[in-house]
Amino acid sequence: GRVVVLGAPPSADDHHQAAAQQGLEGFVRSLGKEIGRGRTVNLVRIAGPVGAAESTLRFLLSPRSAYVSGQVIEVGTPEGELTPPADWAQPLAGRTALITGAARGIGEAVAETLVRDGAQVVLLDVPSAESDLAKVAQRLGGRALPLDITADDAGERIAEFVSAPDGGLDVVVHNAGITRDRRLANMPAERWSSVLDVNLASVLRTTDALLKAGAVRRGGSIVATASIAGIAGNAGQTNYAASKAGIVGLVRSLAPRAAAEHGVTVNAVAPGFIETKMTAAVPLFIREAGRRMNSLGQGGLPVDVAETTAWFASAASGSVNGQVVRVCGQSLLGA
Ligand SMILES: NC(=O)c1ccc[n+]([C@@H]2O[C@H](COP(=O)([O-])OP(=O)(O)OC[C@H]3O[C@@H](n4cnc5c(N)ncnc54)[C@H](O)[C@@H]3O)[C@@H](O)[C@H]2O)c1
Repeated sequence: GRVVVLGAPPSADDHHQAAAQQGLEGFVRSLGKEIGRGRTVNLVRIAGPVGAAESTLRFLLSPRSAYVSGQVIEVGTPEGELTPPADWAQPLAGRTALITGAARGIGEAVAETLVRDGAQVVLLDVPSAESDLAKVAQRLGGRALPLDITADDAGERIAEFVSAPDGGLDVVVHNAGITRDRRLANMPAERWSSVLDVNLASVLRTTDALLKAGAVRRGGSIVATASIAGIAGNAGQTNYAASKAGIVGLVRSLAPRAAAEHGVTVNAVAPGFIETKMTAAVPLFIREAGRRMNSLGQGGLPVDVAETTAWFASAASGSVNGQVVRVCGQSLLGA
C-alpha cells in the first residue's frame, strides 16, 4: 500500500502554520516506521499549482516507488508551461538521455528504465568497460561513449558527441561513482582524491561544460547521484561521504539558477543499500545489517533507483527542482 500526505511548505512568516506543516514530517516518518513491510509513507509539499504535482503523485502511488519511504518532496511552480505526456506509459518519448557509469549496476538499470519510458540513450563508461558498455548499448538500441568522466574535457567531448544528428540532450544522469573506503587516519591521498574526482569534481565540471555549451535543451533534467552516506556519514567513508554531501550542495545551489537561466531542473537520488557489485564487496555482516536496517526490511534493487531517476527525468516533472530523494526503504541511517 501507499500513503501520500499532502501539505504545504512551512511558512517563514507564520509559526503556527510552520508548526503544523513540520508536524506532518514527524507524522509521516513515524507512520512509515510503524506500518513498513511493503507499505510506504511520503509527504508532498505543494508550493505551486496543484496540477503540477501529477507526475509526482503518479510516481508515489505506483509500484515504481516501492523503495521510497519517509521522504518529503516539494513540488513548486515550473519554469515554463508543463505539458503532460501524450502517453503516460511513455513519458520520456522524444527525449535523449546521457547516463554515466552505464555499463553495469544502477547505471545499466537507469538506461533500461529510461528506454522503457521512451527515451533514446547515450551510454558512457570508462574505456576499460567498453565491451560491457557495447553489449548494453546494443541491447537497448543506444549509443556507447567510452570515456573517463574525470577527463578535463569530458563535458566538451560529450557535447560534441551528442551534437549530431538532431543535437543535444534532454536528460543527464550523473551516476558514475566509486568507493575507496579507509578510515581517515589510514587514508592515502590517492584514495581521497580519486573518490572526490569521480563522484563530485567531474560532476561539477561536466555539468558546467554542458550547460555552457547549451547541450541540455530547455525543459531538460539533470539528475545527480548522492548517497545516504553523504547525509548520515559512515565510518570508513569520509572521502565518499564528503563527495556525496557535495552533490547535495551542488543540487540545492544550482537548481534555482539552472531553472531560471536554462529552463533545466537539477535533482538528486540518494540511494541506501542497493544490491550491486559495489555492495557485494561489503563484508557479510555489514551487508546483512544494511539490508535489514530499514522500514521495509530488505535491500533495494538498481531498478528502484532507476524508477526515481525516470520520474525526475520526465518533462512532466518540471515542477520538481532542487530535491534530494532517498531511495533507501527509510533506512535507519541518517535523518
Ligand atoms: N549500490 C549502492 O548501494 C549505492 C548506494 C548509494 C549510492 N550509490 C551510487 O550509485 C552509483 C552507481 O553505483 P553502483 O552500485 O551501480 O556501482 P557500480 O560500481 O556497480 O557501477 C559504477 C559504474 O561507474 C563506472 N565508472 C566508475 N568510474 C568512472 C569514470 N571515471 N568514468 C566513467 N565511468 C566510471 C564504472 O565503470 C561502473 O560501470 C554510484 O554513484 C554510487 O556511489 C550506490
